[in-house]
Amino acid sequence: MLDAAFINQLRAIAPRLHQWMDGFRQARVLVVGDLTLDEFLTGEVERVSREAPVLILRHELTRQIPGGGANAIYNLATLGANVKAVGLVGKDGQGEVLRGIFTSAGIDTNGILVDGDRPTVTKTRISGHARQSVTQQIVRIDRKSDDPPDLELQLQLAAYIRQQIGSVDAVVCSDYGDGVLSQPVIEAVLQHPCTIIDTQKDLHRYAGATLFTPNLPEAEKAAGYAITTSASLPQAGHDLLQLTQAEQMLITRGDEGMSLFSRDGSHETIPAFNRTDVYDVTGAGDTVVAALTLGLIAGASPIEAAMLGNLAASLVVRQFGTATTTVGAMKTALRSLLEP
Ligand SMILES: Nc1ncnc2c1ncn2[C@@H]1O[C@H](COP(=O)(O)OP(=O)(O)OP(=O)(O)O)[C@@H](O)[C@H]1O
Ligand SMILES: [Mg+2]
Repeated sequence: MLDAAFINQLRAIAPRLHQWMDGFRQARVLVVGDLTLDEFLTGEVERVSREAPVLILRHELTRQIPGGGANAIYNLATLGANVKAVGLVGKDGQGEVLRGIFTSAGIDTNGILVDGDRPTVTKTRISGHARQSVTQQIVRIDRKSDDPPDLELQLQLAAYIRQQIGSVDAVVCSDYGDGVLSQPVIEAVLQHPCTIIDTQKDLHRYAGATLFTPNLPEAEKAAGYAITTSASLPQAGHDLLQLTQAEQMLITRGDEGMSLFSRDGSHETIPAFNRTDVYDVTGAGDTVVAALTLGLIAGASPIEAAMLGNLAASLVVRQFGTATTTVGAMKTALRSLLEP
């Protein structure tokens, strides 16, 4: 339960939050990301194989959804923004599937280049169930390369970003460590005055960006110490702002919500809006980045934008797998939070 004082604070800014959400449709965002395709293959257990002591599944369903940086892109699109995607896919069927999903969602894919040397990052979960029983994951197969993209491709991505940068309101980087965010690409991104960075590591490479959204383990890694006490959290906020020279540092803290640290020394914590119907927190961070970015573009203050990120995240943690939400669902959720 949210405490009464917080509900009152939220009630006071609710009309403004609604106003910012109405502005999402006008926002133009360029997202540079490590794109992943999440695949879910499900089947019913038929029998034990004679080739090996393994189960044979009869295929029932294949689901393919955007993951990693592709999930951030997809979230921005379902929230109504005009999105230009920048990244790499392999010369393979998975890359085509990802491009197809984006195109159907109205996302501009001209910045998605084909990397002939590396596969589309794909995470395939194979799950089985006995008749009339629950489905469980059996194995996951990852397709990815440990090599960086070719220098020529890095430069092509950087050139595309420089060409587009004047026509967008903000740039988001979604760095899952798969190589799209190379030095030339980051340099191109930092030409924009409004840059939001979600990176698993090496925050210092983005020094000078506007706002970062590390989760707690990422913040700990970047700070170099555990964030376990009420003193170490603001210390980490301060140290990471120092490290990155950013204006704001938003540390997302799972079921503890999120804490926003600003350069003027102020900080505020927002509790998680929904802690009861939580089914799958995968990708909640991508949703935070998406809603927060659109809030900032629409005119929200950083704390209001963080509230919007928190609100959007409270909806996707109710769904299985990486998930997206809409402005309509966010408005409904905000109203029900404020109900007496
Ligand atoms: N267990 C939870 N209960 C309620 N809300 C949650 C929970 N986990 C996450 N959230 C919401 O989602 C936000 C982001 O979560 P988190 O800090 O786990 O991001 P993340 O680790 O970057 O996620 P990912 O990398 O999977 O996208 C939190 O600030 C909170 O609003
Ligand atoms: Mg994250």
